[in-house]
Amino acid sequence: MNRVRTAIVGCGKVGHIHAQALASLAESDFVAACDVDLQRAVALAGRYGIRAFTDVARMLEESDVQALLIGTPHPLHAQPAIRAAESGVHVLVEKPLAASLQDCDAILAAARRHGTKLGVISQRRWYEPVLRMKDAIVAGKIGRPVLGAFIMYSWREPSYYLSDPWRGRWSTEGGGVLVNQSPHLVDLLQWLMDDEVAEVSGYWANLNHPSVEVEDSAVAILRFRNGGLGSIIASLSQKPGIYTKVHIHGSNGATVGVETDRGATFIAGMSAISEPALNDLWTIPGEEDNLARFHAEDRARFHEIDAVNHYHALQIQDFLRAIIEDRPPLVTGDDGRRVVALFQAIYESNREGKSIKLPVA
Ligand SMILES: NC(=O)c1ccc[n+]([C@@H]2O[C@H](COP(=O)([O-])OP(=O)(O)OC[C@H]3O[C@@H](n4cnc5c(N)ncnc54)[C@H](O)[C@@H]3O)[C@@H](O)[C@H]2O)c1
Repeated sequence: MNRVRTAIVGCGKVGHIHAQALASLAESDFVAACDVDLQRAVALAGRYGIRAFTDVARMLEESDVQALLIGTPHPLHAQPAIRAAESGVHVLVEKPLAASLQDCDAILAAARRHGTKLGVISQRRWYEPVLRMKDAIVAGKIGRPVLGAFIMYSWREPSYYLSDPWRGRWSTEGGGVLVNQSPHLVDLLQWLMDDEVAEVSGYWANLNHPSVEVEDSAVAILRFRNGGLGSIIASLSQKPGIYTKVHIHGSNGATVGVETDRGATFIAGMSAISEPALNDLWTIPGEEDNLARFHAEDRARFHEIDAVNHYHALQIQDFLRAIIEDRPPLVTGDDGRRVVALFQAIYESNREGKSIKLPVA
């Protein structure tokens, strides 16, 4: 097999990014799209000349789908993911894998039971400055990663929360900045630290979005399994506030870092990516002067690609190749669960007023 019959569920903002990738990748034979909103499904399907459905089970059956991309609101990831696994269909889920650990475990169990592949979108892993950091860490250039931090200062207008009925409510979104925006950075932090968080103390609050129920800000202190330490600030309360950085410090005193989101705030389906991600710290002995070259390369590439779609397409391609080559995808379901476990532990830590040990069974 060198092509996979693909479909999407969720024809909203991210669904259009999925569709564009599936229609253009050589590994994909894009056959169907599903949305509870028939008009959305029909509009997207019409654009790509594929079939439209409002019911996932019917779509999987009638279109002989082999891989499903899920872009529904987070608490609605589990149902189609489990249904697909039960039909022997491989599943790539948007971040976060789910809003709750129970849903994560049900999705993982279904994939295991039916021998299907499971991946979770974390497209910033394909950003070149992030890959550069990972390569340097794997090559041992910072010794062992011992201290890791991310800061995300961002902003959402009240109109953002009104743009879809599920946003900003515990019952329909499962949380705020921790569930929706921070998973990208939580995944990068654990991946670059090459470790999992073993204990977390966290706080969260709604600082200046009184029209929504959920938190707009969270902070946490982390201890990793191998003894490393870390910290998190994730906030949508700072205007204009585009300042999203991941820094990894090593046992030899060297640091590698990236500013993943720069320029104007990017919201998929609502705005463009205005500037490339860039390495902002690089103190590996003998490589201190590399930053200028990295910046030049990354700025030049940015003008040649469509950054909104490019990195999603790279991850979707990896997932389809994982099916074709029968290997795990780069970002696995277990990676996705680790992200959910960490943000759920931050919620619990704040509620219980104590640190929480991971992994939670
Ligand atoms: N990786 C990224 O950068 C990125 C960017 C945006 C969104 N996302 C993720 O994608 C998911 C969707 O976000 P969005 O911004 O596209 O939301 P959206 O509201 O624009 O789209 C969601 C779509 O799902 C449909 N839907 C809802 N329930 C359904 C069901 N039961 N069956 C079929 N369709 C259903 C809705 O009608 C809507 O068209 C979220 O989990 C979000 O975190 C990821």
